[in-house]
Parts: sequence; structure tokens; C-alpha cells
Amino acid sequence: MDSLFVRAALGKTQEKPVWMMRQAGRYLPEYRSLREKFPDFISFVRNVDAAAEATLQPVRRFDLDAAILFSDILVTLPPMGFDLAFLPGKGPVVRNPLRAASDIGRLRKVNLLQDLDFTGKALKKIRATLSSEKALLGFVGGPLTIASYAIEGGSSKDLHRTKALFYNDPDTFDRFLSAVANVTGEYLAQQAEWGADALVIMDSWAGHLSSADYYPMAGKFTRRVVEIVRSRSRAPIIHYANGASHLLPFFTALNVDVVGVDHRVELSEIFDKYPDTVFQGNLDPAKLFASPEAVSQSVSEILKTVQSRPHIMNLGHGVLPETPVESVRAFVDTVRGNFRQ
Ligand code: CP3
Repeated sequence: MDSLFVRAALGKTQEKPVWMMRQAGRYLPEYRSLREKFPDFISFVRNVDAAAEATLQPVRRFDLDAAILFSDILVTLPPMGFDLAFLPGKGPVVRNPLRAASDIGRLRKVNLLQDLDFTGKALKKIRATLSSEKALLGFVGGPLTIASYAIEGGSSKDLHRTKALFYNDPDTFDRFLSAVANVTGEYLAQQAEWGADALVIMDSWAGHLSSADYYPMAGKFTRRVVEIVRSRSRAPIIHYANGASHLLPFFTALNVDVVGVDHRVELSEIFDKYPDTVFQGNLDPAKLFASPEAVSQSVSEILKTVQSRPHIMNLGHGVLPETPVESVRAFVDTVRGNFRQ
């Protein structure tokens, strides 16, 4: 039988699985001691034993319904020819960004089995350890979100270089995004073959786009990813974007199984508008800085709104680094109906 997570993702149960975006991370003391052993984030991710251990830590501690591979959405950039580093305090940096048509020739052909073999080894190792009641999630970034790091050279508040490339040289934009979409789709489908039970597409920054720009800049390429995955795998697909409620009409038409929403969305409103969509979310990650009682109250309110609808319980965005562990526990315990004050 499929895990609770997979059944909920397919709309086949009213029982609510629970997990958290960025559930492996600095708020956990056991994560901090593992992280200390590596000089940088990429060598941590490429170490199969460490990545498997980081993946399992939050599941062990909170008995979550899903484990998400410990990795990053940007791991496909180095094999494509980008010089990526994660700098302390600064986040991801791409030292050779793609800004013009002449940069397209620099793109390298990715050999997934070779270039990303550390993902395959980690997924197989985790799947062999994890109980069959728990789902193992593979993930990728949405092509727009991944490409934005490659074009901007790192994180950006407004994606203006990415938009400038699209407005001024749509052909180069399209060629680059198509290349990213193909690698992303093949990589995600491969993760299912390596043992992932469900697949997440995190198009975190799609919310920066207007409704007019979304399809030609992002949606079209996410569709390509979904198509590639559907042709090779039956694993359910979850889509997530942040600050993007204006784009829900597009997300609900992407042929994915679950649409993740952030905490700015009013669940009762989208439930009325989209009666047949399974959603995921949407507790504000900052709510976890409130007392366990207040967290439990907010989670109960979400559950009351969701009622008998199939739904996946999660935050509206990733767990923040300073989050108190007791509040995370209150979140999970309330979903399971065993929160004790
Ligand atoms: O627990 C999990 O969810 C699995 C691991 C995971 C990471 N990143 C680990 C990570 C996942 C699923 C991601 C996805 C990711 N990465 C997204 C999409 C989700 C979202 O948050 O919107 C994005 C946009 C990125 C890009 C990225 N990676 C940024 C902006 C940063 C720096 C800021 C930060 O959060 O620290 C990273 C680095 C990163 N990815 C870290 C971790 C644990 C910190 C690395 C370190 O130890 O220095």
C-alpha cells in the first residue's frame, strides 16, 4: 500500500500527512553538529552518508510523514557549466552568470548518472533505511527559479536581470530556459527511479512575475518538466511557489497533483474556487516563534478550515534557522491530534 503522504497527494485519503519545507536545518542541534564537519555546503550535500543522515534527522525527531532529500535546487547548475558557491552569510553565488546570447555556447551537456550520482546514492541509501509508511521526496527548482540564480548571479529581490533578458532577448531567454527545463525534468524523473516516492517542484520565485509574464517566462518550462516526469514515472508531483496567489489559475492547470501555497493565501477562499485541487500548506513559518499553545491554536484553525478535504499539512515557506524546536513539535502533535499543553 502507498504511504499516507502519497495517498493524500493523490486525493485518496482525508487523513492529513505532515512535513515541513527546509525541515533539515540549523534549528536542529543534531544538524548543526553534522554541518560543522564540512567546510562548505556543497561538500556536505555531495557526501552521501551525511546527506542521508541530515535527511533522516527531522523524521526521526518528529516522526514526520515525509523525508525530503537533503540537497539544493541549484545542484544542476555546476554540471551545466556554472561556477556555483554557497558563501556564509551571502547564500548562493554564481560567478559566471549568463547574461547574453554569446553565453549560451558555454552551456555544458549534463550526464545525470555521472554528474549527479551523489543524489542517486543518497536516495537509495535513505529509501533502504526509511520505513515504508514514510514517503521519500525528491525535488528540483522550477526552471524560472533555477535560471534566475544563473542569470542574476545569486539571490535577487526583484529578478530584474532575468526579466530584462526575457524582454530584450526573448530568443536567448527561451533557449536557456528550455535547456534548464530539460535537465530539470530528466533529473526529477531520475530521482523517482532512484527511489523517491513523490516529487516536488519548488518554483519559489515565480511570484515575482505578473500574470501576463508567468506563462512565457516560467509556466511553459514547468509544463515541460511535468511532461518529462509524467512520461517516465507515476510518482505524484507537488508544485510550490511563494507569494504567488495571483498565479493559482496557472498552477492548478499545470497537471500536478498538489499545489503548495504560502501563508498569505486564505485557504477557505481557494478551497471554494478550486474544489478539486489538493493543496499543501500553509502555516506562517514565523508563527513557530509563538508559544507552543499559540502554534497549536493556529494549526487547529487550519485543520478546521480543511475539514475532510484531502490536504498536506506544511508551512507556507521553509523553517527559519532560529525556530524553537518545541513549536515544531506542537505543529506536528496538533496535526496528529495529540498536542498536550
Ligand atoms: O530540508 C529540506 O527542505 C531539504 C533541503 C533543501 C535545501 N534547500 C537546503 C539548503 C531544499 C529543499 C532547498 C531548496 C531551495 N534552495 C530553494 C527552494 C525552497 C525555498 O526555500 O524557497 C531555494 C530558493 C534554494 C536556494 C538556496 N539555497 C538559498 C537561497 C540558500 C541560502 C539561504 C539559506 O536558506 O541558507 C541556499 C543554501 C541552503 N540550502 C542551505 C540549506 C540547508 C544553507 C547552507 C549552509 O549551510 O550554508
